[in-house]
Amino acid sequence: MLNDLVNRSRPLPAGSKMLILGGGFSGSTLATLLRAQGTPVICTRRNPEPSGTHLCFDSDNPDQGPKPEDLEGTTHVLSTIPPSRDGREPVLTSLLPTLRDLPLRWVGYLSTTGVYGDRGGDWVSEADPATPGQDRSRRRLACENAWQRTGLPMQILRLPGIYGPKRSVINGLQQGRARMIHKTGQVFCRIHVEDIAGACLHLIHKAEEGAWPSVVNISDDCPAPSEELLGFAADLIQMEPPPFEDFDAASQSMSAMARSFWSENRRVSNYLLRNTLKYELLHPDFRVGLRDCWLQDPLNPNRKETLDPRSTTG
Ligand SMILES: NC(=O)c1ccc[n+]([C@@H]2O[C@H](COP(=O)([O-])OP(=O)(O)OC[C@H]3O[C@@H](n4cnc5c(N)ncnc54)[C@H](OP(=O)(O)O)[C@@H]3O)[C@@H](O)[C@H]2O)c1
Repeated sequence: MLNDLVNRSRPLPAGSKMLILGGGFSGSTLATLLRAQGTPVICTRRNPEPSGTHLCFDSDNPDQGPKPEDLEGTTHVLSTIPPSRDGREPVLTSLLPTLRDLPLRWVGYLSTTGVYGDRGGDWVSEADPATPGQDRSRRRLACENAWQRTGLPMQILRLPGIYGPKRSVINGLQQGRARMIHKTGQVFCRIHVEDIAGACLHLIHKAEEGAWPSVVNISDDCPAPSEELLGFAADLIQMEPPPFEDFDAASQSMSAMARSFWSENRRVSNYLLRNTLKYELLHPDFRVGLRDCWLQDPLNPNRKETLDPRSTTG
């Protein structure tokens, strides 16, 4: 739970101010963690509520974006905004001159492990070249490169499937969307959203100490078949798991996007994050992570109250 991160992590130094471009699932979780530790945070959304604290930033309407005076004093930036459909980097196109004028000490960009492409189930690390196999992953790599070329104090964080409270296989099961599909040898990697926030904070501290790899995989310890997660989650919430389906038959009724996910198979190494940079995962595998999601689930009679990024306006 986020409270555990708040208690165990060192806050950013006094005088720090974080700008989070894209206060969605990952962005709002980091914002909640930092604010709970007393760090000022500015967060953007495309359509912020007029009464809320978010700033407006929509790359399709850059004129309504933040003005330089809104961002004054910003020392750290995290962009969670995905590439636009035409492949442009949505932030840099309009905001780079403003970012260049800020006293920035660290800039993070959330990317995806999709840039590694298909590895036939083998392990892949940051030292391996990116060989994206899908158009969206090629666009993503182009955006990574655009950020790297800015000369800002950059770090690229590559993420596998993100899950967490209100967004996990538990919700898929509750809503009848989950499918128990088996494909021999296929695994998926994942990361709990709270570990994205925890890792960002940890990486900022490490960077200040001089340990600053340009790319870091933020993945848990346990690549696993999706049917294993579903079985575990169904047991956890005491629901009947969905019927077993073989991939070849199931793929006939999948969306093109879902089929593209199943067409790539890799085990993403977190050695750099865990062993070299010494980040301790709050949710090292899906069992720990799904128990946490269930503990925070509104349908759980034994639900535990905790900090909830989605219930705040900030
Ligand atoms: N979901 C996954 O499993 C997964 C896996 C690997 C990597 N990633 C990538 O990791 C990043 C964070 O993921 P997430 O799940 O936290 O994302 P998310 O919840 O969808 O949040 C993305 C944020 O970007 C903002 N945004 C999107 N398009 C924008 C635009 N054109 N202009 C301005 N803002 C824009 C959204 O604004 P609004 O709040 O207004 O919607 C939102 O705040 C994303 O880049 C995602 O593609 C995701």
